Amino acid sequence: MTEKKKRSDARYKIAWLPGDGIGVEVLEAAKMVLDKLQLNAEYIHGDIGWEFWCQEGDAFPGRTINLLKSVDAAMFGAITSKPVKAAEAELIPSLKGKGLTYRSPIVRMRQLFDLYICLRPCKGYSGNSLNYKENIDLVVFRENTEDLYAGVEFNPVPLELAVTLAKLSKPFSVFKDLAGDQYAISTKINTRKGSERIIRAAFDFAKKFGRKKVTVVHKANVVRATDGLFLEIAKEVAKDFPGIQMDDANIDAMCMWLLKNPFNYDVLVAPNLYGDIISDLCAQMVGGLGFGCSGNIGEKLAVFEPTHGSAPKYAGQYKVNPIATILAAKMMLDWLGEKSKAEVLEKAVARVIKEGKVRTYDMGGSSKTLEMAQIIAAHL
Ligand code: NAI
Ligand code: MG
Repeated sequence: MTEKKKRSDARYKIAWLPGDGIGVEVLEAAKMVLDKLQLNAEYIHGDIGWEFWCQEGDAFPGRTINLLKSVDAAMFGAITSKPVKAAEAELIPSLKGKGLTYRSPIVRMRQLFDLYICLRPCKGYSGNSLNYKENIDLVVFRENTEDLYAGVEFNPVPLELAVTLAKLSKPFSVFKDLAGDQYAISTKINTRKGSERIIRAAFDFAKKFGRKKVTVVHKANVVRATDGLFLEIAKEVAKDFPGIQMDDANIDAMCMWLLKNPFNYDVLVAPNLYGDIISDLCAQMVGGLGFGCSGNIGEKLAVFEPTHGSAPKYAGQYKVNPIATILAAKMMLDWLGEKSKAEVLEKAVARVIKEGKVRTYDMGGSSKTLEMAQIIAAHL
């Protein structure tokens, strides 16, 4: 599932979604590298992000959704997300009277296109002074559509929900006399289907790429219903992969063990929130947000992006590190079945890091975003 079936007629259609802030800059850098690789592709711009929310009340307009229905893959920069309540939206002139609230377009995109795998390879390239330790090579499979990110949330809590919870749940009954505006509820929803397919994807990947172990991350001792289900399904799926070792760990302990000895781990699989947490931890061990790349992968579409956001404080300065996005482009090449181009690109990135002549600010240098793209392109 981490690779699309190759088309023989390949002139790829790639949606190009820069978004906000540094998203624009890092995507410009990635395009320089893809152009040098002469990927036979048509890149089609799509509107997404904060600006479109302010202008038209939709950060992920219908025209962009339609574009994504027609492409082979997409590259996405980053968006600015702000928790805007309906009352605040009233203060934006173009949104006045529309009663809108803001929802992150990337979370919507993942759900709408059922991009259920969030694949985050965390590989430390040799010679990167930001590596926590040399030779770290971890792969995180994060469930991408449900769990605490399902979007089923209440603040204030409607009376009928409070009454039902008080009736059905003993621990909750102590809160039953609270007014609905005195607490909030965010639900954690994990389905059998959603859990099984991400766990299976992690095991399939381990088998295909000769990885030895899959570690299931959860908190089943406390969050018994949802994480209990996740762990139970993992044990069932593991039986189909006798050559691969499975183990499991609580999310809190996992953070500690990962720092203590990252070499004890190989492929990690987790529900959405824990996956989000450990992938940032793993990204930091291999150089930080400037190196963290990510693929949101479904049956029909895959969207590749750096894991970082729009970094408003650096927007317009062309100083951030584009390597995360260039590695996301490498993941896209893998997904498209363009193995040799993917390999050449990864080697070029590795050489540039090792040589250490061009370094962006996070790497202790003063090179600009596009200088980094140029030197990588020159190594292709
Ligand atoms: P951020 O990831 O945008 O930036 C945090 C800090 O990390 C930056 O200030 C910078 O010091 C560093 N950084 C990020 N990318 C870097 C790069 N390529 N090279 C070097 N250093 C880099 O996170 P922040 O500031 O918490 O959020 C800014 C906005 O981005 C928010 O509106 C947030 O909601 C949004 N966001 C969007 C994401 C997405 O589009 N997928 C993901 C995370 C945050
Ligand atoms: Mg995150």
